Amino acid sequence: MRQWELTTKWYSFTNMNSGVNKTNLVNMQKKTTVFDAILSRRSIRDFTTEPVSTALLETIVTAGIWAPSGLNNQPWRFVLIRDEEIRGKLADLTSYSHVVRGAPALIAVYLDTETMYDAVKDHQAAGACIQNMLLCTEELGLGGVWLGQILKNRQQVNEVLGLDDRFDLMALLAIGHPLHHNQQSRRKPLSDFILKNV
Ligand SMILES: Cc1cc2nc3c(=O)[nH]c(=O)nc-3n(C[C@H](O)[C@H](O)[C@H](O)COP(=O)(O)O)c2cc1C
Repeated sequence: MRQWELTTKWYSFTNMNSGVNKTNLVNMQKKTTVFDAILSRRSIRDFTTEPVSTALLETIVTAGIWAPSGLNNQPWRFVLIRDEEIRGKLADLTSYSHVVRGAPALIAVYLDTETMYDAVKDHQAAGACIQNMLLCTEELGLGGVWLGQILKNRQQVNEVLGLDDRFDLMALLAIGHPLHHNQQSRRKPLSDFILKNV
C-alpha cells in the first residue's frame, strides 16, 4: 500500500515537471525516503483539533538541530507553543491568523544574535534547520507550514513570548494533524533553474 501511494504521488509530480524521468523516480523510491518526503511535503494550513505532544515537537526540533551550520555554530533557538491563550495572541499578529489559531502547536524558530558569527551563514543555517523540521513533520504524518508574514511583527512576538531582542525571529511553524490532503503546489520546470550543465 505504501509503495503504491508513493508511486502515485511521484507520477503526479512527474506530470507537473516534464523534465523528470518517471522510471528514475520509481527506482529512487526503493532507495530513499528523504526524496519522498521532499516531494510529498506540502504547506498544511488546515488542522484537526487533535493535540500534538511535546515529544513529537521535540522530535521535530531534533531534526532541526541536526541541520548543517557554518562552523557547526548551531545558532538556532526554539519556543514550543501549545498554550491556547498564547496562540491566540500570536494569531493577532499576522494576516494568517486563521492558520495560527487553528494549529494545535506552534514552533517559533529564532537565531540567537549573540551566538551568530556570520550573518549570511547563520541565516542560511536557520533555513536548513526549518526545512529539516518541515520534512520531519511530514514523515511523522503531521502537517506544517512555514509562516514568515508574522516577521513584520517580530518585536511583538518577542513580547508575547517574553524574549528580548537578542533573539531574532526567523519563522513561526504551525504544526498539527492535517485536516485533509487537498493541498496542491507547482514548480516551474527544472530547465528554468539550471543555468549551465557544463
Ligand atoms: C520564507 C517563507 C515564508 C513563508 N511565509 C508564509 C506565510 O506567511 N504564510 C503562509 O501561509 N505560507 C508561507 N510560506 C509557505 C509558502 O507559501 C509555500 O511554501 C509555497 O507556496 C509553496 O507551497 P508548498 O510548500 O506546499 O510546496 C512561506 C514559505 C517560506 C519559505
